[in-house]
Amino acid sequence: MGFEDTYKHKPQIKESANARVNLIGEHTDYTGGYVMPTLLKFKNTIELSKNSEKQFVVFSEYFNEKKVFNDFVKSKYSDWSDYIKGCFFIFFDENKKIKLEHFNMYIKSTIPLGRGISSSSALCVSILKALNTYFNTQMNGRHLAILAKKVENQYIGVSSGIMDQMVSSIGIYGKAFFLDCLNLKYELVSFPSNWKFCLIDSEVQRNLRSSSYNDRFSELKIAEKELAVEYLGGVEINKFDTDKISSPTVIKRARHVVTENYRVLKAKESLLNDDISQFGKLMIESHNSYSKDFEASTKDVDDIVDRSIQCGALGARLTGGGFGGFTVSLIEKDKFSNWYKKINKFYPAEKIFEV
Ligand code: GLA
Repeated sequence: MGFEDTYKHKPQIKESANARVNLIGEHTDYTGGYVMPTLLKFKNTIELSKNSEKQFVVFSEYFNEKKVFNDFVKSKYSDWSDYIKGCFFIFFDENKKIKLEHFNMYIKSTIPLGRGISSSSALCVSILKALNTYFNTQMNGRHLAILAKKVENQYIGVSSGIMDQMVSSIGIYGKAFFLDCLNLKYELVSFPSNWKFCLIDSEVQRNLRSSSYNDRFSELKIAEKELAVEYLGGVEINKFDTDKISSPTVIKRARHVVTENYRVLKAKESLLNDDISQFGKLMIESHNSYSKDFEASTKDVDDIVDRSIQCGALGARLTGGGFGGFTVSLIEKDKFSNWYKKINKFYPAEKIFEV
């Protein structure tokens, strides 16, 4: 299959966007803090052409399914096509002067879904890129990221932050993307040549909508309210006044965020200083905080992290929104084949991905 087989003509536009792995900085984006993801090779590609019959026709290769619609009403029971409708809705809402057009669309994706590597952001960013190109609306990468976030927050109903959309829209493969989520300033940082990151799939499917993601969001907003700060991102560790927070659970959630921001800054410093052992240590601390204070890990994921370290990784952690999905490990290049041989005894090659 492909666009031409499905629609019997060539696409007018082709755009794509990559998935990401977050190296460090979890749930710090919507709390005005720092994150440091990097792009993966997995990507989502959109092909489209004008549809003259006044309908939207969308084929998803992943779901092997075609959807036809002519309004942007969200389905009652969440459906993959909601993301597409949401992108159209937000795009036309943002560009009110543009006359509505209909499209044939073909979606190809190599991104494993629901595993914490931002498949939905890559989907939204690639669709918005395609519409931006088709209508020549000349929105820059940051603007497209903001619109993609609106799709998730306002249309789908997930309270997610801006990390995934920003890196998917602006990031460069092979560079760390350090982002200050408050002012959206970013730096592209090179990786030292002897470092290697590797993903292991826990195969626990995570769905942001049905997971506890929104609960964690609300708990952090309670912490901000009780501490009387606009964002937890601005709270320094030594000024974190737990006495002001009424619930022990909220203290733990907020402590994760306050300490995680510090770790992201240290992690960037480690990259710049080529200090692989410090970066590894920070990943381990980040995972412990994510697992114990934020309670966003699972037994399977904790096992992968522990085993990866026992097999020689300098650091390992759960990446993304939490509650399953991928882990990321940091290994010295020279030791990689040794680490791989050992970890491969626990997890098959299909579950291990070199970044
Ligand atoms: C998901 C969200 C991001 C971010 C991470 C957790 O990937 O889309 O905005 O909050 O979870 O760090």
